[in-house]
Amino acid sequence: MSERAASYDRGAMTEVVLTPKRAAESETEMVQVVLPNDANPLGFILGGTVMHLIDIAGAIACHRHTRTLLVTAAVDGLEFLHPIKVGDLIILKARVTCVFTTSLEVRVDVYSEETLTGRRQLTSRAFLTFVAIDRAGGRVRVPPLLVESEEERQECHAAHGRRAERLKRKSQA
Ligand SMILES: CC(C)(COP(=O)(O)OP(=O)(O)OC[C@H]1O[C@@H](n2cnc3c(N)ncnc32)[C@H](O)[C@@H]1OP(=O)(O)O)[C@@H](O)C(=O)NCCC(=O)NCCS
Repeated sequence: MSERAASYDRGAMTEVVLTPKRAAESETEMVQVVLPNDANPLGFILGGTVMHLIDIAGAIACHRHTRTLLVTAAVDGLEFLHPIKVGDLIILKARVTCVFTTSLEVRVDVYSEETLTGRRQLTSRAFLTFVAIDRAGGRVRVPPLLVESEEERQECHAAHGRRAERLKRKSQA
């Protein structure tokens, strides 16, 4: 069932059709080879480059879900578990975990893959929150997420917990 809604708060009223979507519909995978220009003197990809790619992969998945303009509101604590070296592939998999009212959370898993052996390792996992906006900066409601499996239900439940923590931190800042 689709729901019609309008952006609110500020700016022109932009009508959007809120057709629920599956996480699989917006799932995004990005792959690129790590080149010397992306690396530090040890030959490992720069943390800032990984963060940039995480932001892009997360944004693409959220754009595919919302089909609106978006801004990054938050990136949760990020760890780099293993280095990714020049010549390896960096693979980013982004999946929407939960949708709120005008914001949504996306999980981005980052892997390294050795080109000659195919050996893959999870190197980072990030949770980002994006907020849907219109051209005037007003907030826009985002389409609901169709939660289809027990795993997806648990992921969304966990996302609500992370959201509460973020908003608590924000209110204390
Ligand atoms: C993110 C931003 C839009 C939030 O604006 P705000 O007026 O503080 O937030 P609002 O009260 O309008 O809330 C809008 C939504 O954002 C969510 N939100 C706001 N701050 C958040 C935070 N720190 N973490 C997670 N979610 C947040 C709110 O929960 C709300 O979601 P909901 O409608 O689904 O409940 C605003 O701070 C901003 O524009 N920041 C700069 C963004 C930016 O430049 N990003 C980098 C480049 S894209």
